[in-house]
Amino acid sequence: KVLILDFGSQYTQLIARKVRSLNIYCEIQPYQISLEQIQSFAPQAIILSGSPSSSSKKNSPKPEEGIWQLGIPILGICYGMQLLVTHYGGTILPSDKREYGSAILNIINHNELLAGLGDREEVWMSHSDAVSSLPECFSVLAKTDQSPYAVIAHKELPFYGLQFHPEVANTKNGIKVLENFLIRIGKITANWTPNAFINENIEKIRKQVGNQKVLLGLSGGVDSSVTAVLLYKTIGNQLLPIFVDTGLMRYKEAERVKQTFSAYPDLNIRYVDASKTFISKLKGITDPETKRKIIGNTFIEVFEKIAGEYEEVHFLAQGTLYPDVIESATFTGMTAKIKSHHNVGGLPEKMNLALIEPLRELFKDEVREVGTLLGLPESIIQRHPFPGPGLAVRIIGEVNAEKVRLLQLADEIFISELQKNGLYNTTWQAFAVLLPIRTVGVMGDERSYDQVCALRAVDSIDGMTANFTQLPMWFLQKVANRICNEVKGISRVVYDISSKPPATIEWE
Ligand code: XMP
Repeated sequence: KVLILDFGSQYTQLIARKVRSLNIYCEIQPYQISLEQIQSFAPQAIILSGSPSSSSKKNSPKPEEGIWQLGIPILGICYGMQLLVTHYGGTILPSDKREYGSAILNIINHNELLAGLGDREEVWMSHSDAVSSLPECFSVLAKTDQSPYAVIAHKELPFYGLQFHPEVANTKNGIKVLENFLIRIGKITANWTPNAFINENIEKIRKQVGNQKVLLGLSGGVDSSVTAVLLYKTIGNQLLPIFVDTGLMRYKEAERVKQTFSAYPDLNIRYVDASKTFISKLKGITDPETKRKIIGNTFIEVFEKIAGEYEEVHFLAQGTLYPDVIESATFTGMTAKIKSHHNVGGLPEKMNLALIEPLRELFKDEVREVGTLLGLPESIIQRHPFPGPGLAVRIIGEVNAEKVRLLQLADEIFISELQKNGLYNTTWQAFAVLLPIRTVGVMGDERSYDQVCALRAVDSIDGMTANFTQLPMWFLQKVANRICNEVKGISRVVYDISSKPPATIEWE
């Protein structure tokens, strides 16, 4: 397994995903972790990430000195390479030539790290500091027009530095360099697969849970569904899944969940219809943040009440994923983005239940692979993300049951047409939004004065940035026609063509 020390680069997660794609397990840790923590993780290799800081500055972040004596291979990327150089007495200077974007790497020494690469390779650069003097103990393996030290290697120890970013897609053969470092140089066996993950975790969970019962909030989304099936396969009916219908869910969601999980007859899902509570608490509320808070708190109240009925329960399972772990406030990385986690599943510690988070080491694509191996249907595995506060943040202005009904119908038409036309998996997330304005229309010979629905579909990788999906015009027209004809109360449909930033994906 591999340790990635994070110095705050925006690409650190990408490094981890690339390493995992080689079937090698890795973890990201903040650069401040102690030598004892590193030793107890027992990595077979270490990767030092890039950073927004400048290593030419005095108090720039540094790893524990002891890492250089562990006797394991170390690869420094960008800032990480500069750490390597300064450790051995070299110097880094802010360069007047900032190098950003694609560059051609000229390889002069095809040593093990660069084996299998051409003499010239396209790579992605993003730095303004540069190595100005290289210590004697290093040799240069490759350069670019702007960087005389684009790839360096220690002459005796397995320490390497890359000024470019092998983890980004624009570095065409970046994965080859990582593979050379980890497998050729580090001699790490590539045996970390979704199957291995399942087997390992089944054992771990069994030990942790014993014969106790485990509660789980099941929402019908990918993460909680995969968590449910993994736990079910491990502890059977010791798992107590609870589906809380907030009344703000997608069209016929409860029925769909029942249908999906009917394949597991011993899995006793408890369905709680709390829709009246949620809708009545939202009465008269129009402010988006207030809506979110009310929904979050109401969910906790409802769930706690149900949990209180199971006195013998000690565990609560959650579908937390690795990006949530990395981005959470407790992970003190340099630029750890503290996303306001408005995840309705985030139940508070005061519930006094120990948490079980079997997916907390996984990225979303890995969760999908695990889910597929566990036999979950494609319709769940490939499902678009859905926000915790549900349709409430897609009904602009006050929420009521009638508006939810209209939006569910419009959304269902959009989603089912995407599926029928083979477009569902070509977009990252798609949904309808109900606007609080009415416009004039004509239906037959009658004047109408009805609501407007907006359609939103976006391309994204992680939801942090997004572009609107260029759905075909004929398709949008077909969906708009169906919505206006079939959903009484909506007479106009618009398509949202804004990107994130400056817009967000959801409208509230
Ligand atoms: P925004 O609107 O912030 O959304 O661009 C980014 C992604 O996050 C989803 N989202 C949420 N997910 N609880 C969630 O679990 C929430 O409160 C929430 N709000 C937004 C959104 O659907 C998109 O995929």
